[in-house]
Amino acid sequence: MDDNNIILQAKNMYHIYESLSLEGNVVALRGLNVTIKEGEAVAVIGPSGSGKSTLLKCLGGLMKPSSGSVSLGGKEMIRMTGSELVKLRQETVSFIFQDSNLLPELNALDNVAQPLRHQGVMPGPARSKAMELLDRLGMGDRWMGVPEELSGGEQQRVAIARALITKPKLILADEPTGALDPITSREVLELFERLHEEEDVAFLLVTHNRDVAYFCERSLELRDGRFVAQHGTDFDLSDLSESRELIIDETGTITLPPDLLLKLGGPGRFDVPDVDRDTLQLERVEDDKIEVSSQTKRILSSSCPACNHDYGESAEQLCPECGSSRPMVQA
Ligand SMILES: Nc1ncnc2c1ncn2[C@@H]1O[C@H](COP(=O)(O)OP(=O)(O)OP(=O)(O)O)[C@@H](O)[C@H]1O
Ligand SMILES: [Mg+2]
Repeated sequence: MDDNNIILQAKNMYHIYESLSLEGNVVALRGLNVTIKEGEAVAVIGPSGSGKSTLLKCLGGLMKPSSGSVSLGGKEMIRMTGSELVKLRQETVSFIFQDSNLLPELNALDNVAQPLRHQGVMPGPARSKAMELLDRLGMGDRWMGVPEELSGGEQQRVAIARALITKPKLILADEPTGALDPITSREVLELFERLHEEEDVAFLLVTHNRDVAYFCERSLELRDGRFVAQHGTDFDLSDLSESRELIIDETGTITLPPDLLLKLGGPGRFDVPDVDRDTLQLERVEDDKIEVSSQTKRILSSSCPACNHDYGESAEQLCPECGSSRPMVQA
């Protein structure tokens, strides 16, 4: 791959949250590799707690990963001083967070104008650009509101306008349409699609929304801090098994999603009778099969452990209500 076209690249990235609690440290990212090309749109999908927000924060330089490297626009972030990093971020990347992170004392207009002011643009032109964006996001008549006077969806639109105003080459967004109603969400997506197609803006978007995933060229499935699979443009978020391409990473690690593990008959040991350049065949060691199937027959749980959603007959793997991963339980 031509390195010049890469806007963001992470190699072997780990992140551990240290904690003194009884549960101990949390390993949130386990050796991730990601490459985003200029102008590419990539979605990250995965259950609650799988590490999506942690990934975005580490990639954007808001949090230092415990190990591994991240480069933005071809520059290794770890080698940069604080002020170089701030400048590179201001010029290249914008964030849209899950909780909109607006400045509480500024009204919507000044929140949106602020990143331009930081770049030295005068208040007049900065405000008029901000107003234009607020208008495009259907917030033209709410510009005077301070964050606490705005609804969750309105705050999110202000955060989106704020992210777009500097014309970044890359937007990292954590569930950008999470707090929006379907119509507003559609409008925001249309704006993203236009930026992507007409201005070649690259996106890395965390989402549970199929329309968001649909506008991306590919989606990466994150589970327990590892990328387990990739999906193309056209796929069903409620049944990932149809479109899944499993990832074997540079260390040779494969992580099987629970539904595949179930189809395979559960954990065990496997012979590898045949390995060709592009195929891998696995056959369960017979002893193991008896042990696994007689002691623990496991099925997908019928309800969500987090919110009690009833899955009924469906084969969904992420809870449509809360996004939690569907566990396997003993039959
Ligand atoms: N500040 C923190 N301290 C300790 N553990 C944390 C912290 N933030 C996140 N975690 C843990 O790290 C793991 C990954 O969390 P993360 O917020 O990245 O998940 P997520 O995929 O964004 O989930 P969601 O879909 O609910 O937003 C979880 O187990 C979480 O409990
Ligand atoms: Mg999150």
